[in-house]
Amino acid sequence: MNILVTGGAGYVGSVCAAELVRRKHRVITYDNLSAGVRRAVLPGIALVEGDIADRKKLERVLRQHHIEVVMHFAASALVDESIRNPSLFYRNNVSGTLVLLDAMLATGIKRLVFSSSAAVYGEPTQVPITEDHPTAPINAYGETKLVIERALAWYHRAYGLNCVALRYFNAAGAVGTLGENHRPETHLVPRILDVVFDARQPFQIYGDDYPTPDGTCVRDFVHVRDIARAHILAMRKLAKLGLAVYNIGHGRGYSIREVVQTVEAVTGAKVPIVTAPRRPGDPAVLVASPEKIGRELGWKPKEDLTRIVRSAWLYHRQKRLQKGNHP
Ligand code: UFG
Repeated sequence: MNILVTGGAGYVGSVCAAELVRRKHRVITYDNLSAGVRRAVLPGIALVEGDIADRKKLERVLRQHHIEVVMHFAASALVDESIRNPSLFYRNNVSGTLVLLDAMLATGIKRLVFSSSAAVYGEPTQVPITEDHPTAPINAYGETKLVIERALAWYHRAYGLNCVALRYFNAAGAVGTLGENHRPETHLVPRILDVVFDARQPFQIYGDDYPTPDGTCVRDFVHVRDIARAHILAMRKLAKLGLAVYNIGHGRGYSIREVVQTVEAVTGAKVPIVTAPRRPGDPAVLVASPEKIGRELGWKPKEDLTRIVRSAWLYHRQKRLQKGNHP
């Protein structure tokens, strides 16, 4: 297959691109490098530097490379930032995606795997969360993903666009030289690892008065390699599925304190912690029911939290060793 991977220089996109190439697909990554980095595109994979808002360029690339399927990862994705700067999220995640969809339709491409998010659910009324749980986002990030999911249903109906939306829960872990590399880094596992490498600043837990067993938020962590596998399974069934949405998670949640303990067990380091105020836009508990994707696509996560943390630790340790060589 010829596959365009938007956001292919980003965290999940780069792992997915590498996995596709390993399985002998032809991949073109498309990234404006605003958050992604060039070295996340592995040797042998083409990178086109471009913005999803650039319809002409997109159409040119889609035609030139005879693209058959698009995997759309490119997005603004930090929950906290989405509350402070919603305009950026509507521009990139809504306007940008609509441009991409139009470019696909103009070039006759009718297959899309879309990166959605557990953030579409908001504060859940029941866990584990199934796909038919009401959607009521509590941050602009989740709202923009939901807007696109809804648009896709209309595009499917009107234009025959086949699309699978994958609602990721908490992506974490690394695959070799590909891992979380955000600037600034706000995600949980790399933030705890920062403290392992430099314990001068304690790790801040954002709120310990949530209605959860130990008062800290509970999340469902899923290894980025497992996420990539879900994309490939979804891609294979796109034509048959027509339009579908799936959760990607384990169905098992861990509190922030439990994640800190796992990092301590994996690294052998003691992680000093302090409690900080809650972060706006954080639901108390997000745990997936992965039942539907298991039943319909045969997907099961293979990596548990310990393996997720270990892979992230190895990645960040390596990155620090090579710091001088990194952009
Ligand atoms: N946290 C801390 N301290 C930190 C960083 C994070 O306590 O220094 C807490 C957060 O408050 C939250 C949890 O750790 O409760 C996870 O935070 P992350 O920033 O790692 O991830 P989020 O849950 O905010 O968001 C991630 C993705 C979103 C996705 C969401 C769905 O970034 O795209 O998971 O579960 F929508």
